[in-house]
Order: sequence, then C-alpha cells, then structure tokens
Amino acid sequence: MRQAGRYLPEYREIRAGAGSFLDLCYNPELAARVTLQPIDRFGFDAAILFSDILVVPHALGQKVDFIQNEGPVLEPLGDGDAIRALSRDRFLEHLAPVFETVRQVRAGLESKVALIGFCGAPWTVATYMIGGRGSPDQAAARGLAYRDPEAFQVLTDLLVEVSVEYLCAQVAAGAQVLQIFDSWAGNLPDGEFERWCVEPVRAIVSGIRAKGVDAPVIGFPRGSGPAYAGYAAKTGVNGLSCDTSLPLDFIARELQRDVTVQGNLDPLLLVNGGDALTRRVDEILAVLGEGPFIFNLGHGIVPQTPPEHVADLIAQVRR
Ligand code: CP3
Repeated sequence: MRQAGRYLPEYREIRAGAGSFLDLCYNPELAARVTLQPIDRFGFDAAILFSDILVVPHALGQKVDFIQNEGPVLEPLGDGDAIRALSRDRFLEHLAPVFETVRQVRAGLESKVALIGFCGAPWTVATYMIGGRGSPDQAAARGLAYRDPEAFQVLTDLLVEVSVEYLCAQVAAGAQVLQIFDSWAGNLPDGEFERWCVEPVRAIVSGIRAKGVDAPVIGFPRGSGPAYAGYAAKTGVNGLSCDTSLPLDFIARELQRDVTVQGNLDPLLLVNGGDALTRRVDEILAVLGEGPFIFNLGHGIVPQTPPEHVADLIAQVRR
C-alpha cells in the first residue's frame, strides 16, 4: 500500500531528480532504489515493486501523464473506435524496464523479504482509460459500460490478456507474490460487479495458472463490502486485501476461514498517530492476528504521514 512515496524524504529526493513520475517508473536503477528504501528504513517483510497500474494503458499506446497535485491524466477513450485502436504490438517491449527493475530489486533484497508484483484490475484500469482521470463515481466508465457493453467487453478482454502477460513476466523476473488492485470496485450493481470486476480477475488468475505461474495472488476489490465474501472462491485469488471500511468480525468470520487476509488499518489513523492508532492496531491484531494474516493498511499511505508513526506502528505489530 504505497510503501514508497511522498511521505519519505529519501523518495522525494530521488523523485525530484528523476524527471516525470513515468520517467521514474521506467528507470530501473532509480525505481529499484525507491522500492528498497522503505525496506531498508523499516524492515518490512515484503516489498512492492515501484511502478504504477497506469503503465499498462501507456504500454497500449494511450497518452498518460501524472500531474503534480492532480494525479494521473490520460487522453480519454471516448468510444468503441478509440478502444479498438489500442495496440498491443509493443506491449511487453515497452514494459521491459519494469522487468529489469524487478530483477534489480530481487537482487538487492534479503531472501526472507518477499517481492510483490502487481497490476490494476481491468475495471479499475478501464475507469482511468475511459474517464481520463480518477473520479469519485467513475461515471464515464459506468456510462460506457451501460451504453456500449460490447466495446467495454473488448477493452476488458484486452486488459485481461495483457495483464496475464504482464504478471507472468514480473514473476519470470523475480516477483513472488502478485496483487491485483481493483480500487474502484465499489460502485457497481450486482450484475455489473460480476461481469466487470469478478469475471476479469478470475480470467487473469486462471490465465497465469495456465502459464504455470503458481505465485500467490492477492485480490483487492476495494469498497465492495459484502461482495468480498465469495470473491476469492469466484476469482481464485489466494488472499484478500481488506479495505478500511470492512468490519473486523466480518473479515474473521467470512473471509479468513478460507484465505489469507491483509489489512485494514485506516491510513489516516497513521497520520494522526497516538493512542487512537495504538488502540486500533491492538483491535485488528486481536481479531485477525491468530489466523492467516498480513498486517497492512486498508488503502495507500498518504503523503502527510510522519515516518516516525510508521516506525512506531511496526514496533507495536512486531511486539
Ligand atoms: O507502494 C508503492 O510505491 C508501489 C507502487 C505503486 C504506486 N501506485 C506508485 C505511485 C502502486 C502499487 C500503485 C497502485 C495504484 N496506482 C493504484 C491502485 C492502488 C490504490 O492506490 O488504489 C491506483 C488507483 C493508481 C493510480 C494512481 N497513481 C493515482 C490515482 C495516483 C495519484 C495519487 C495521489 O495521491 O496523487 C498515482 C501516483 C502514484 N503512484 C504515486 C506513487 C508513489 C505518487 C506520485 C508521485 O510521487 O509523484
């Protein structure tokens, strides 16, 4: 959950000298260094590759920029024709620097520290490709999915295919665990959730298994509430990353019986620190700590987080 990032001065320093955010993503030496920074500083049990879910649309030929204080901005795909014009011809070639980053990170990590590779789930990536930017309701993508489901299916199928290739190549380069981020899974009605969130992730998991990849896969259908139950069985993921709003007793009763769970500390508690943080961490550990569990945040760490709070949190969890 954004181990590397703007809350770390050593990241900001490299970021400032690296050019654009995408330049940093495609610079193996620097990307490997920022992947390792939080591990060196805090001693996490796992590192997550420094990259972004939006390198995938970029590798399909879409214009992608990251604008300071605004986030990602893409040239939106307005209709089926724009979708059909995407090109996968140079997809893996374009992403070669990412695989080189994975190799360098693996070489720089102690063997006991796991390396997590990742991609965005097709739905979440599509919301950015269609809308051109993040939005609280993903109206543009939901609108296109209702208006022209055939075109939306073409895009989803393409994203499934290239995500399988992308994840397999990350594993070939040294990733040992894979996470599929469906950060915007929370706004769809039942039928659309099944079609655009569950089915594509199922297809990705079965696609990588068919290619002989047996690395554990963690799913993150953020905001999907009760639909978390059933998500692992339907998609085949081995672990569930739980968002901040999922009740702990629900996680223990409905999810942890079947799969490893990860989560779900509110990143804002980590900004705040103090007793409220300590109490909540104790609660999470009391309810989930006995089962298969990865302590984590419920969503990405925010830039205002004091690094000392992260150090305190880790000391508490280790104790
Ligand atoms: O922990 C890590 O550093 C791993 C690398 C990683 C990043 N993004 C780096 C990043 C990972 C795993 C992601 C995933 C990602 N990217 C998701 C899924 C997870 C989630 O957060 O919901 C999404 C939706 C994106 C798209 C994206 N990238 C957004 C919306 C933004 C802007 C966020 C903001 O707060 O402004 C980014 C930028 C981004 N990706 C940053 C980092 C470290 C910050 C940009 C910077 O340093 O300039």
